[in-house]
Amino acid sequence: MAFFNSLLNLKLSNHSFSKGNHRIKYLRIYRWDPIINKSPWFNTYPVYVDSCGPIVLDALIKIKNEQDSTLAFRRSCREGICGSCSININGKNTLACLQKLNIPSQVITIYPLPHMYVVKDLIPDLTNFYIQLRSIQPWLRGPSGGNSNVEHLQSKADRAKLDGLYECILCACCSAACPSYWWNHDKYLGPAVLLQAYRWIADSRDSSTNERLQQLQDSHKLYRCHTIINCAKTCPKNLNPGKAIANIKKAMASVE
Ligand code: SF4
Ligand code: SF4
Ligand code: FES
Repeated sequence: MAFFNSLLNLKLSNHSFSKGNHRIKYLRIYRWDPIINKSPWFNTYPVYVDSCGPIVLDALIKIKNEQDSTLAFRRSCREGICGSCSININGKNTLACLQKLNIPSQVITIYPLPHMYVVKDLIPDLTNFYIQLRSIQPWLRGPSGGNSNVEHLQSKADRAKLDGLYECILCACCSAACPSYWWNHDKYLGPAVLLQAYRWIADSRDSSTNERLQQLQDSHKLYRCHTIINCAKTCPKNLNPGKAIANIKKAMASVE
């Protein structure tokens, strides 16, 4: 495989987009395996576009099935819903299942989400991310002693306040694109978790708004956001975590 890759890399610069009647993409993929005593490396895999599904995830699955079963990546829904397949494609964090394979560049470079520990190949270690998510208690907290067997009603206007928040699929693309999170991921909660925090702060049915805000009143958890807005630029669901964070900061004025 190593010989094949070096040969392929040598030929890439002269290779035309079409070979015979077949259009080819070359997926240049970051590899790392903790059980092999070797520094990270790249493998480059040719994929015939016309005999592959239309998205980058299709190409990854095809490579794993037909060329290299050792390649590791996460995926589940293939529909942009589960948030599992987030990777860095040609420098942008996005979902492999939403990114079209047929983009202008012939060589598509793929890394795991940046500035995260890697479990293997394209699989980031999201342990810290999920600990942080759990810390903001991302569920409806009704009044203490309230009846949990009744519906929690909400007006249409209040429900509309959750638009742009509830759609988050927790793919972590935004957090892995945020420079503040790169350097302080142990203390700063990052855009994905803060957007989730605001999703519950903004929910009219939740009874713990004050406690939620008090919990975020911390120089690191919230105020490491410097409004760089990389998060909104990269979000594959077109959400704006930076705006949600600004709204949390505004709501801080009303903390009792
Ligand atoms: S805000 Fe967007 S990029 Fe961030 S976790 Fe949610 S869906 Fe993913
Ligand atoms: S706006 Fe805040 S959360 Fe978003 S990328 Fe910038 S620093 Fe990070
Ligand atoms: S596989 Fe579920 S979001 Fe891509």
